[in-house]
Amino acid sequence: MIRAAPTPSERLRVLSDPVRLRVLLLLERGELTVGELARALGLSQPRVSNHLRLLREARLLRERHEGRTTHLSLAVSEDESAAKLWNAVRAEVEALPEALADRERQERIVDERRARGGEFFDAVAGRWDKIGTDFATGVARERAIAALLPRVSVIADLGCGTGWITRSLIGVAGKVICVDRSARMLEVTRTKLAPLPSGVELEFRRGELDALPVADAELDGAVCAMVLHHLHDLRPALLECWRALKPGGVLSIVELAPHKEAWMAEAQGDLRMGLDPRDVLDALTRAGFVDLSLESPNDAYRPRREDGARAELPLYTVRGRKPRA
Ligand SMILES: C[S@@+](CC[C@H](N)C(=O)[O-])C[C@H]1O[C@@H](n2cnc3c(N)ncnc32)[C@H](O)[C@@H]1O
Repeated sequence: MIRAAPTPSERLRVLSDPVRLRVLLLLERGELTVGELARALGLSQPRVSNHLRLLREARLLRERHEGRTTHLSLAVSEDESAAKLWNAVRAEVEALPEALADRERQERIVDERRARGGEFFDAVAGRWDKIGTDFATGVARERAIAALLPRVSVIADLGCGTGWITRSLIGVAGKVICVDRSARMLEVTRTKLAPLPSGVELEFRRGELDALPVADAELDGAVCAMVLHHLHDLRPALLECWRALKPGGVLSIVELAPHKEAWMAEAQGDLRMGLDPRDVLDALTRAGFVDLSLESPNDAYRPRREDGARAELPLYTVRGRKPRA
């Protein structure tokens, strides 16, 4: 049965509880799993779950499922009446002393996630070319690079890994900036690409996609291949890409279509079992990108399962442009 949309007074009843308001404030800052949310609130999961049910019924939060984990995010932006109610109460929630403690715990959770992600790729960096780079045709990456051309000045390879894309950009872009959260991945790329032909400008910058070590409007183009499925939250990363691009600059993405290979979470550090291209397009639109395009080239990622057989996971490419004006 489809529930009727909640009325403003039903929503107000749900918003009359301070814990539920704290939940919304936490989710406004970024997506959290149910376990992380309970930790950020300093409450047990059973205590939190009843609040979540009411918020879900009031269509104030959104759920996304990855294997057995439920990820939560705020759902007020697409509903004008919910957005108005939330804006009316949010300043009051921010002033609560509990909200400050929530924020500190949330920052710790995010730091821990980053450290875990960095440790994973640091540990596999030396073997990554053997375990994580088998593509059926390689066409998806070629298309993603071609989408950045002919603007050939400064291009960033975001989440460069062991530099497969970087290598193709050398000689095409005037300057290539490699960004990755893993110091070891950057080191492997640097070693692999040395010695550089003269006149090639290549920089290595360690950093996070949602806090890019790139100045405002420094980039003519950016490529982000096989990275978004490692992120909890697409929005802050895409906003950062937008900030780092010049007006008219292009962001080119390669991603895995949704799949069912749950083992990849542990073996490849994936946080998402692929990404629905509609979600990527939607997130790009919300971040302000225009001229969006989606392609499904004849290509697939072919990681080896534990039994030795290869999975065949279709890839797609998405492109968006920062408006010129
Ligand atoms: C699957 S590899 C892809 C590497 C490369 N782009 C390619 O296509 O071969 C993902 C890379 O993204 C990096 N990464 C994951 N999450 C990141 C984040 N939030 N910020 C920066 N780098 C990240 C990892 O350290 C890893 O090197």
